[in-house]
Amino acid sequence: MKLFGRWRKNDDNDIDIPVSKLQANRDSKHSKQATGQKKTSLFDNIVGYEDVKELYEMAIKAEKPVHLLLVGPPASAKSLFMSSLTKLERSYYAVGSSSTKSGICDYLFEYRPRYFIIDEIEKMNKRDQTSLLNLMESGILSELKHNQKRMTQLKTWVFASCNSTDKLLPPLLTRFKDIHFKPYTEQEFVNIVVEILDREEGVDRDVATMIADAVFNRLKSTNIRECIRIARLAGSDRNLAQVDRIIDIFAKYNPHDS
Ligand SMILES: Nc1ncnc2c1ncn2[C@@H]1O[C@H](COP(=O)(O)OP(=O)(O)OP(=O)(O)O)[C@@H](O)[C@H]1O
Ligand SMILES: [Mg+2]
Repeated sequence: MKLFGRWRKNDDNDIDIPVSKLQANRDSKHSKQATGQKKTSLFDNIVGYEDVKELYEMAIKAEKPVHLLLVGPPASAKSLFMSSLTKLERSYYAVGSSSTKSGICDYLFEYRPRYFIIDEIEKMNKRDQTSLLNLMESGILSELKHNQKRMTQLKTWVFASCNSTDKLLPPLLTRFKDIHFKPYTEQEFVNIVVEILDREEGVDRDVATMIADAVFNRLKSTNIRECIRIARLAGSDRNLAQVDRIIDIFAKYNPHDS
């Protein structure tokens, strides 16, 4: 649809996971583990953050909307959380930078989403942010357009993410429970990198551990994207010597030290 080309509804081939099914997945956790079957969940592709995942599941199951905002440094899995939430039925996804007030209002009036997911919400302009205030507080959506007022009642959960809350209107911020991700500790970083490089890039776990250790300690970075780059540069027959060579070059031109 032209007007909303910049908004993305669940693709038809996305998996729709109704809340009832999530609950069923949870309930059958033990029996699945016993049979060696993999547990499927909304956040399967995210390593760690088990308590945050639990919080989302509680919010999703709540009878009335609870709005959650993830705040965190780059590459801390915020977008991964947002894209995982698009698996929910009646969820609609937007990136803050590509929104306009009439876009949001028209969209909400037309599609009446249950879950409104906004990545990089700090990039939304102030007018767009304002249009969310009533919706989040009372579910009332109203708009004055061409001297005509329209109004409706929605039951919409808003799940959003941002790097910083500095550009958010204070009244918008207070309508969210904000969850602040801290930079990964060395142990968390190594665990996530090994898991991701093994699963997504087919990297041997010893090589992945070495990459994680070098990125954390030599490049002084907790950016998982750096590890993925190194793994890809090393090619499919990657070995420790090749990885070491790439890290030497990265370290030489690293902004952080040496
Ligand atoms: N906990 C995690 N589990 C799985 N992958 C992770 C995790 N943390 C980071 N990543 C990896 O880091 C990359 C960046 O993640 P993501 O895009 O979600 O970060 P972000 O917090 O949205 O960053 P930005 O603020 O730059 O947008 C992903 O490709 C993903 O592979
Ligand atoms: Mg992101």
